[in-house]
Amino acid sequence: MITLTDIAYVRSGVADLDAATRFATQIVGLELAAPTEAGIAHLRADHRHHCLALVEGPSGVISSGFSVADTDALGDAETELERSGLTVRRGSAAQARSRRVREFIAFDDPFGNRVELVSQQETIARPVAFSRPAAGITEFGHLCLDAPDVREAYRFWSTRFNARVSDWIGDAACLMRIDPVHHKLAVFRGDGPGLCHMNFQVASLDDVFRNWHFLQEHDVEIEMGPGRHPQSTAVFLYFLGPEGFTYEYSFGVRRIEDEAAWVPRTFDPAEPGAIDMWLGPTSRPITQLQVRADQPVSAVS
Ligand SMILES: [Fe+2]
Repeated sequence: MITLTDIAYVRSGVADLDAATRFATQIVGLELAAPTEAGIAHLRADHRHHCLALVEGPSGVISSGFSVADTDALGDAETELERSGLTVRRGSAAQARSRRVREFIAFDDPFGNRVELVSQQETIARPVAFSRPAAGITEFGHLCLDAPDVREAYRFWSTRFNARVSDWIGDAACLMRIDPVHHKLAVFRGDGPGLCHMNFQVASLDDVFRNWHFLQEHDVEIEMGPGRHPQSTAVFLYFLGPEGFTYEYSFGVRRIEDEAAWVPRTFDPAEPGAIDMWLGPTSRPITQLQVRADQPVSAVS
């Protein structure tokens, strides 16, 4: 069993790095780290050096990163994954440097999502210098991958990793926790591999609604919300960034402190209120497709 201690980052390929970076800073509100590599923008939301890296190249998600405890845990994970038949690749020193981690391994889940496990992701002590402080972002909240069969995806994540289902939305979604937060990893049903969305928590309900107005004023496409998910109780707002990348702000995610007492529930997505208990219009967020391994990506992608 591999213990994921946290989510680490999303790495996303963008054809237009300037436009994607402008959106991530001026609209979403993230801090842009001082550039250290040509063609890569590192965006920060919390203690992590970055949680989003935009990499100039073909459009599409490159990888999703999760932390493990230390170098030993990473070595054990590598052995365990290889033993289970997966092809595991160790990142080079330059690739690890670009991710601001000490070491990492990469593999594809059974659906083609590229996953990276990292040790010692760099922490920055200085408070985040948000490009748009009014967004109210407090942290990188969760990431959501696509898979054609969410139950198979759950089998993958729960048998090899410490992921536990918190709630099911029928066969449409599996919401998983790796710590007390209701979900830090979700899998939505989708045709192929990709990143359904990346979530940022905000400090208050007011932030969600202020952001909603801000996004509308700036002609950003709102995909869904504001609404409230009955599963996590989070108030959500999904919106579309450049190159098919869906961002989400949310506030008020449930914490499951009593592991033993929690029983996962199943919601029928066709039932009114199953996605938004306020009964607002719902639509599936747009997925940024996985960059395929046969597509050329930059040397430190
Ligand atoms: Fe979400």
